[in-house]
Amino acid sequence: MQHSISLIASGDVPPDSLQALRSALARQGFEAAGAPAATVALFGRWDAQATALVHDGAAHGCPLLAICTQPADLPAEAMWAVLDAGAGDLLLADGAPDAVAHQAAARLQRWRELDARMASAEVREFLVGDSPAWRTLVRSVVEVAAFTDSPVLVTGETGTGKDLVAQAIGRLHRGNGALTVLDCTTLSPELAGSELFGHERGAFTGAYSSRDGAFAAANGGVLFLDEVGELPLPLQAQLLRVIQERQYKRVGSNQWHPTSFRLVCATNRDLEAEVQRGAFRADLYYRIAAWRCRTPPLRERPGDILPLVRHFLGLLGARERELDPAVRQYLLTRSYPGNVRELRQTVARIWHRHSGPGPITIGDVPPDERRGGLPCWPDQAFAEAIRRAIDLGVGLARIGQAATDTAIQLVLEQEGDNNQRAALRLGVTDRTLQLRRKARAGQPG
Ligand SMILES: Nc1ncnc2c1ncn2[C@@H]1O[C@H](COP(=O)(O)OP(=O)(O)OP(=O)(O)O)[C@@H](O)[C@H]1O
Ligand SMILES: [Mg+2]
Repeated sequence: MQHSISLIASGDVPPDSLQALRSALARQGFEAAGAPAATVALFGRWDAQATALVHDGAAHGCPLLAICTQPADLPAEAMWAVLDAGAGDLLLADGAPDAVAHQAAARLQRWRELDARMASAEVREFLVGDSPAWRTLVRSVVEVAAFTDSPVLVTGETGTGKDLVAQAIGRLHRGNGALTVLDCTTLSPELAGSELFGHERGAFTGAYSSRDGAFAAANGGVLFLDEVGELPLPLQAQLLRVIQERQYKRVGSNQWHPTSFRLVCATNRDLEAEVQRGAFRADLYYRIAAWRCRTPPLRERPGDILPLVRHFLGLLGARERELDPAVRQYLLTRSYPGNVRELRQTVARIWHRHSGPGPITIGDVPPDERRGGLPCWPDQAFAEAIRRAIDLGVGLARIGQAATDTAIQLVLEQEGDNNQRAALRLGVTDRTLQLRRKARAGQPG
């Protein structure tokens, strides 16, 4: 199949090397023309122009591969700048065009496969959300699940979708994909051995028949240890042994059974802190956390609220039901300490109160929701902050400036310093945000 890519090159790449790469990519099945399904940025030396080119290319929303054709004197600093500007990957290429094209093709191919999976109903309808923070997480989950066998540790606040991510890894895993779930909070010291390893008949009082445990059930598939941070230390040691030796014995038996599974763990604890204070084994931590991801709280991705509301209404059989703008506003500005789970419950409560045809209105919001959760901004905390500034003698211009600067700084932090995404959230153009940042950088102090 012929795939299209678009090549952009800075002034210092000679036309003949551009042409050579174009032909080499074509030989790899990539036609370097037409719709920019993927973009390759080519540079000779690295300079400000190159960074600007990457930034503009990435701003088009397609994955951008940066290739430096004269990497000999490229400092590490410049390479980081490329990634910061939005490049998805960076190739250092001073070899023959065919070798460069081969490397580029392999990366672009991987991106294509990822794009196809990201666009699949399986991913879009299951891991709902379009915010950059959520899509970035989903993309990396899909990549690690579909292209590796690496153990995955999912961390995040309650209700942010950790279970969902584990289930998605089960579906995307290259093995048979069956997901065996073990909730570590329910493992009592007496029964844990049997739950994990299974037991022989008569192994202990009440063991009337033999039984398989989680390690047998997970063989060939995925073992999901939910709330892994709750695992008591003795069980951590037992788990580590099975992971290392890839075999186990049933309780009451001396026979070793081989097992092979992919491990996915989830926790809302800070496991690194648990390791520091000796509550979690460091060796186990490094085994289970070969690849880590964090499900972002809903407050970091307000753009996901309405798509999630539509999704949950659909699950309740109310897909086409209209939401009055005031309800939308209410749902968008309410706070969700329980994250997506709380949003789901809120939607269900509103929907259950609704009856008859017609849109859902704020009249359907349950009374106890109305008082505590009504959107209120600027609120008391905001007024307090302003009062402090006035008491300190700060004038109106500086208060306005400080509010703007703080908003910009907070959003840039949340969006990983990505100017385009930050601008979108702040409701200004890229250019405006860039200018404000420049002006700010130039300010004394
Ligand atoms: N992106 C999403 N798309 C659709 N449903 C979601 C999404 N994120 C979360 N949910 C739903 O929200 C609820 C909570 O999600 P989940 O159980 O995965 O959270 P969790 O992080 O495991 O929470 P906890 O730490 O309390 O176990 C579930 O009903 C889940 O289906
Ligand atoms: Mg969970």
